[in-house]
Amino acid sequence: MDRIRIEGGRPLAGEVEIGGAKNASLPLMAAALLADSPSLLEHIPHLQDVVTMTRMIEHLGADVTRTNGGIRIDPSGFADAEAPYELVRRMRASIYVLGPLLARFGHARVSLPGGCAIGTRPIDLHLHGLRALGAEIRIEHGYVHASAPSEGLRGADVVLEGPNGPSVGATCNVLMAAALARGHSVLRGTAREPHVADLAGYLSAMGASIRGAGTDVIEVDGVDRLSGTTYRVIPDQIETGTLMAGAAMTRGRVLLRGCRPDHVQVEIAKLREMGAYVEEDNDTLLVGADDRLRAISLRTAPYPGFPTDTQAQFMAALSLAVGESRITETVYPDRFIHVAELNRMGADITVELGSATVRGVERLSGATVMASDLRASAALILAGLAAEGTTECLRVYHLDRGYERLEEKFRVLGAKIERIGEKG
Ligand code: UD1
Repeated sequence: MDRIRIEGGRPLAGEVEIGGAKNASLPLMAAALLADSPSLLEHIPHLQDVVTMTRMIEHLGADVTRTNGGIRIDPSGFADAEAPYELVRRMRASIYVLGPLLARFGHARVSLPGGCAIGTRPIDLHLHGLRALGAEIRIEHGYVHASAPSEGLRGADVVLEGPNGPSVGATCNVLMAAALARGHSVLRGTAREPHVADLAGYLSAMGASIRGAGTDVIEVDGVDRLSGTTYRVIPDQIETGTLMAGAAMTRGRVLLRGCRPDHVQVEIAKLREMGAYVEEDNDTLLVGADDRLRAISLRTAPYPGFPTDTQAQFMAALSLAVGESRITETVYPDRFIHVAELNRMGADITVELGSATVRGVERLSGATVMASDLRASAALILAGLAAEGTTECLRVYHLDRGYERLEEKFRVLGAKIERIGEKG
């Protein structure tokens, strides 16, 4: 297992390019299965979750090739309707193949994803939406068994919002199925995340008829077939937020290229409130800070609220701010496992009932820490970059699931950071 070693205390300075969005790439790859001809998906990042999704759709019979600029997916051999536990357990987003399987084959057998370090993560809303389109679904032996009526899925009016708000995954899954269903669908309470709109953009480029993606009501007129096309995935909103937090907390100055400032408006507003400067242009952001950051309060919420996937990174930044910050997590109330490791580096954070109180300290000190999930590992690396002395972050396979060569980007920005292999 690789680990990452950081000599901290150097401000991040320079320019980096933002990669393609992981959370947009995964549904796009699944959606390529809906077409009857190949697609070229451009700017798909090289990261472990993409490898897992590649294995999944290859298992289902698609032919996937990496090209210079992206991934070519030929769905013509798409034949198998079973997504096995062995693949689904590696990545919850494997559930994205459920909608395409049902829409193309009329039946699907997909292993139930388990919980994960950040919570229980049910899929009831996915199943509710697909049932509304006419699917019959039963859960047996850890698998979702789904079948469409003999005449195929049919459009429906369905609410996809649960007690914790809208669901990105359910919105994407039901949208993919509705694209090939017969008739008109109205999906209500839909997630507004940029990657939902990106999926709708790709489906529309393939011939789907969709209105309202990016809002909380999406209307779909089902079509008979979709054709593969070339489509470029959006830049990664979470990588952008992570690098912005790093620039500000190390009191550096970083130019982020190839990003979408309109997708990170709340992160920008929060950074400014913390005393950092952020200059926006079309597809660049200049971010930095000259002094210690200031404490703020922060509440995660579905888009356009503050993303839960950037909460840990901002907590790392606030652990060094002047004053007491309060972070409330409304999407995954238990998503605070990074707190104990940040405290081992000298942070002063307590958690009670879905809220963290972060009492800013003047300095963090490097330590050996353990990554527990994808975004928590990014937070620990940020803390290591700002801390005095050496930090070693273990279990970086969590990081590799969702970031493309993050340590190389930090090295370009002047950080002393290296990856050490198992034998190193
Ligand atoms: C996606 C992101 C993940 C992010 C999350 C919230 C991908 C691949 N992953 O995950 O990085 O942290 O959005 O922004 O895009 N819920 C239900 N029933 C369901 C589905 C979800 O109750 O059927 C709840 C969840 O427990 C959670 C909330 O709804 O509290 C939002 O989850 P959801 O948006 O579905 O997250 P994912 O799509 O799994």
